[in-house]
Amino acid sequence: HHLEAGDFLAEKGPYPHFMLKEIHEQPGVAARVLGSWTARGDGTVTCDAAGLGWARVPRLTIAACGTACLAGQVGKIWLERIARLPVEIEIASEFRYREPPLPEGGVTLVISQSGETADTLAALRYAKEAGQRTLGLVNVPTSTIAREVDVALATHAGPEIGVASTKAFTAQLLCLLGFTVMVARQRGTLDEADERRWIGALSSVPRLIAETLAAEPAIAAAAAGALAPASDAIFVGRGLMYPLALEGALKLKEITYIHAEGHAAGELKHGPIALVDATVPVVALAPSDGLFDKLDSNIREIMARDGRVLLLTDAAGAARLGEAAWRTIVLPDCEPFLQPFVQAVAIQLLAYHCALARGTDIDQPRNLAKSVTVE
Ligand code: AGP
Repeated sequence: HHLEAGDFLAEKGPYPHFMLKEIHEQPGVAARVLGSWTARGDGTVTCDAAGLGWARVPRLTIAACGTACLAGQVGKIWLERIARLPVEIEIASEFRYREPPLPEGGVTLVISQSGETADTLAALRYAKEAGQRTLGLVNVPTSTIAREVDVALATHAGPEIGVASTKAFTAQLLCLLGFTVMVARQRGTLDEADERRWIGALSSVPRLIAETLAAEPAIAAAAAGALAPASDAIFVGRGLMYPLALEGALKLKEITYIHAEGHAAGELKHGPIALVDATVPVVALAPSDGLFDKLDSNIREIMARDGRVLLLTDAAGAARLGEAAWRTIVLPDCEPFLQPFVQAVAIQLLAYHCALARGTDIDQPRNLAKSVTVE
């Protein structure tokens, strides 16, 4: 997938909606992001934030809104697991009102596609006031946030016209994973050989996204058949798949107006499972990773209560659980750390095709703005 000139012009080209065009631009965007992180070609992953002395940073605070905040939640899991860097994730609109103490020498990262979101900008200003060094991960290099942070990192996704964020989300994820590898090297949790292996893993992301796009017909059928008739839906996931479950629910809400909730799969039995009956589809984001056995029992609990589970998994997961689920969509398999890229594209397509079946305004959903520049 090479970027054509049309990728950057605000025109839909052969696509019926900007959102679908932007979903399909993701392999090319991922390749461009990758190039920016490995630009030196010396086998290292680096960016303009390399000079912040990450070995001595006591904690990273991430503040953002909506989908950008969910990208931050995925980044938190990667950074804590791979770079052993403590990370606090903050909903930007809550952050400054709590007046949280921020550690001496700490860094605050704000994530924003538009770079103009009022709540995120206010969180940035609170962090600066508190003496934090600040980073911005933005898609608009000339935006207010890009101008006010100490170091601005670009997501290189190109203009995102659809109100529901898609290519900016996966570009944020890929930047956060590259950032994790760079920080891990400085904190000594990855050695040079590890870094080369990670560059190999990162360079498989464009292909993984393209392979997931190839599952679009099966996803579209499930969206129209299983989700479009529903008025409520639940998304569940564990570990890295928990923020993806929240993102899947947000995407569905935003463009189909179906009431959708995302839950940590382990939390179902602490209340939400009371909502489950044959009219409420449960979308389970369940690659066959280390947490699959736990999710297996969650899914069987749901099915035992007349629930309807739409299983988003890989071939191994389908072999083990496909017969128990109501419907199964087989997605590409890859190492667990990269599954957010596969599942992100699957939930974007699920929401898109569900909205298509329901006839809602996909690029400009009711009540929403592309950038929320008011608090
Ligand atoms: C995402 O699909 C939504 N449009 C919304 O949650 C968005 O992510 C949020 O408003 C943050 O916007 P920003 O990335 O431009 O700051």
